[in-house]
Amino acid sequence: MNIAIDGPAGAGKSTVARQVASRLKLLYIDTGAMYRALTYAAIHRDCPLTDEERLHSLLESIQITLDALEDGQHVYVDGHDVTNEVRMPVVTDNVSQVSAYPSIRQRMVQLQRELARNKSVVMDGRDIGTHVLPDAELKIFLTASHEERAQRRYHELVNRGIEADLPQLAVDIAERDRKDSERETAPLRQASDAVLLDTTGISVDEVVNRIVTLYLQVKEHAEA
Ligand code: DC
Repeated sequence: MNIAIDGPAGAGKSTVARQVASRLKLLYIDTGAMYRALTYAAIHRDCPLTDEERLHSLLESIQITLDALEDGQHVYVDGHDVTNEVRMPVVTDNVSQVSAYPSIRQRMVQLQRELARNKSVVMDGRDIGTHVLPDAELKIFLTASHEERAQRRYHELVNRGIEADLPQLAVDIAERDRKDSERETAPLRQASDAVLLDTTGISVDEVVNRIVTLYLQVKEHAEA
């Protein structure tokens, strides 16, 4: 049984998905971290972000891996831990461009499905319910007001020791949402069978409880 969690930037997907996975003993997979890792590798190796073919070759030549550690999910490029690097503004500002290329998405989706093979997972991203795991037993579309999403991203960055400017973050988030929603290949969209959860003013615990309850209901129904 899989859970797909999609939604715009800063909706709290990774925080919520990680806690849901831990409560239900499922594997958590943060697909955004994979697109971020490729973007980071491209910048680091001077691969032009406008060149889909070279980006695709780069993706084929590196190994992106994820590992669930005590303090959350870590992401690695060829064995190097880049968990903090992938959150830097230079990566965030360019990841929508990199993730819009069809050949990149095709390969990433393959990798994501491999990670979920033979395991029950909580996977978060933009196209999980619509594209990566269309048969997921529970699909959640997580959102929150634009202001609150900017605030959350601000606190997330500051807590990681990364400098941030709130008004600029609000502008950046709006722009990233626009790019992620308007791209041609697998844009950010709520799956027709997803449950919409607006988390504005709702605590993480409450959101996690809602999803865990929904999951247990779906599971009970499936087993009946
Ligand atoms: O969730 P995040 O902010 O870490 O995601 C970073 C970017 O990656 C996001 O702006 C769009 C892209 N992304 C995607 O296109 N598809 C996914 N399944 C996950 C992320």
